[in-house]
Amino acid sequence: MLLSEQAYRKIDEEVTKFPQGKARSAVLASLTIAQDEKGWVSPEIVEDVANYLGVPPIAVQEVASFYNMLDTKPVGRYKLAVCTNLPCALCGAEKALAHIREKLGVDLGGTTPDGLFTVVEAECMGACGDAPLVLVNNKQMCVRMSDDKLDAMIDLIRREGKA
Ligand code: FES
Repeated sequence: MLLSEQAYRKIDEEVTKFPQGKARSAVLASLTIAQDEKGWVSPEIVEDVANYLGVPPIAVQEVASFYNMLDTKPVGRYKLAVCTNLPCALCGAEKALAHIREKLGVDLGGTTPDGLFTVVEAECMGACGDAPLVLVNNKQMCVRMSDDKLDAMIDLIRREGKA
């Protein structure tokens, strides 16, 4: 048991949303709960969630590796995901991504040495009209990110995230 009691209770709640014997349908929600608590989905977490739900580990691994919001490698405390699909690319996403990488001094997929930021590319988030977009930790979407807004966002996270 690698997660907190609270996390397992949340997983229990997800399982109740599906017919009996269909716990496999709760794999994605369960992995999201686990990632929220642990920061990423390690092989041990995959095994643990599989055991808890009573489904084969490979079924959990398939979900973990399919969805790019699930991180199967360690990431920084703040994952900045920039959509670079065509509509966003046409509205400055590549420039925004380059600005973030330069400001943080990291390659794509890289994490800053202090472990605070990881920068990744993302697929369309359905908010193409508000590009450039940065999704922070899969939860908070920041829209129309000019260089000034990117600087302000990063500076704010640096100030508050290290606390
Ligand atoms: Fe970027 Fe749709 S292409 S949000």
